[in-house]
Amino acid sequence: MSELDQVMAVMEAAFDPHWREAWTRQQVANSLAMPHTYAILVDENGHRISGENTAAGFVLARRAPGEEELLLIGVRPEARGRGLGRTLIEIFATLARGAGAERIFLEMRANNPAQHLYRACGFAPIGRRRAYYRTLDGTQLDAITFAREL
Ligand SMILES: CC(C)(COP(=O)(O)OP(=O)(O)OC[C@H]1O[C@@H](n2cnc3c(N)ncnc32)[C@H](O)[C@@H]1OP(=O)(O)O)[C@@H](O)C(=O)NCCC(=O)NCCS
Repeated sequence: MSELDQVMAVMEAAFDPHWREAWTRQQVANSLAMPHTYAILVDENGHRISGENTAAGFVLARRAPGEEELLLIGVRPEARGRGLGRTLIEIFATLARGAGAERIFLEMRANNPAQHLYRACGFAPIGRRRAYYRTLDGTQLDAITFAREL
C-alpha cells in the first residue's frame, strides 16, 4: 500500500466527519508532494513502517526553518489508549530536533479531547484564533495553538 493509501485508511477510520477536521485524499496527496511535508506511520506496536504493514496511526508534519508543525495525527479507534498517539508525537519530536527545530507546534479545535494527549506530551497553549473552524452543523469553534520547546 502506498503511504498515501495508508494515511487515508487511518484517516477514514479515525476522524468523526462532524468536526470536519479530516483531509481529503487530494489534500493529503498535494501536501505529501510538497518537499517539506512528510508522514510518519506506525503499526499497532508503535514501530515505524513504510508501506508493507497496515498502519494503526499516522502523523502528517511540515518542516520549516527552526520549527515544525504537526498538521494531523490519527490513531485507529481500536488501537487507542495504548500509547500510540504519544509514540507518534515523540517520533515527530525526535525527527524535528534532528532536523534542527527548536520548537514544534500544532493547531486544534478548542474542544478536541486530543488536548489531553498534547498536554501530556509537553505542549502548552500559546494562542487562540476565534471562530476558525466550522462543524457540519455550522457551529463555529476557536482554534488553539499549542507549542513545545525542544
Ligand atoms: C488523539 C488520538 C490520536 C490519541 O491517540 P491514542 O493512541 O489513544 O493516544 P495515547 O494512548 O498515546 O494517549 C496518550 C495520553 O493522552 C491521553 N488521551 C489521549 N486521547 C485522549 C482523549 N480522547 N481523552 C482524554 N485523554 C486522552 C491518554 O489518557 C494518555 O495519557 P496518559 O499517558 O497520561 O495516560 C486519537 O484519539 C485519535 O485519533 N483521535 C481522532 C483524531 C483526532 O482528533 N486527532 C487530533 C486532531 S488532528
